[in-house]
Amino acid sequence: MRLIICENYNEISKKSAEIVAAQILLKPNCTLGLATGSSPVGMYENLTAMNLDFSEVTTFNLDEYYPINKKNDQSYYYFMNQHLYSKVNLSPEKIHIPNGSAADPQEECLAYDKAIEENGGIDLQVLGIGQNGHIGFNEPAETLLAGTHITKLTQNTIEANSRFFKKIEDVPTQALTMGIAPIMKAKTILLIANGKSKAPAIKALMHGIIDPKIPATLLSCHPNTIVIVDKEAASLL
Ligand code: GLP
Repeated sequence: MRLIICENYNEISKKSAEIVAAQILLKPNCTLGLATGSSPVGMYENLTAMNLDFSEVTTFNLDEYYPINKKNDQSYYYFMNQHLYSKVNLSPEKIHIPNGSAADPQEECLAYDKAIEENGGIDLQVLGIGQNGHIGFNEPAETLLAGTHITKLTQNTIEANSRFFKKIEDVPTQALTMGIAPIMKAKTILLIANGKSKAPAIKALMHGIIDPKIPATLLSCHPNTIVIVDKEAASLL
């Protein structure tokens, strides 16, 4: 695992955008695995200012709340549209994000895995990390699931994500998330974390243990993971 400790969030955002840009320049028809949350917002800002050609790029997002309408301003589709889709020349048919209003979530998850597989997997997977060590919405558990699945959010995640909602009761309690397999099969993983609240999860990740109760620790088995953090997230290392 390569660890890059940055001075601040701006530096994290610039460096991570440079890595994504390098991937697109190296392989214009690459597949990006994309993340939402506050951590990658600055990365998207930098990336969309670079004038890159996204016309051949395919994207698969990690997760989406369930149930949620994509027009809801708290949906991850809405977030992605605001921060990336509406700002670059991605082809609409190359954009993938789990459908939070699918009538049959199991069917949606199977179709999502099939699409990732048929596409030949992911070249570069961008990840944030939950305070409890979740990746995507793979929450701490006794066992983790390989494929895309519907999951119940933990109270910690509901509380952490309530800052984006008017009140905590508005936070959806379930989500559709990519499982561990496509994340671990990605050729490169880029994990971004900033702030003190992420320090314990980053400490566990860099500690070399593998614990399904801290899902991000699985990444220490991945051959090509880059972890970009600020000084606060690195403060327990
Ligand atoms: C959310 C998302 C994750 C994200 C994480 C951290 O619940 N499902 O993909 O990485 O929590 O979010 P933030 O970057 O806002 O701290």
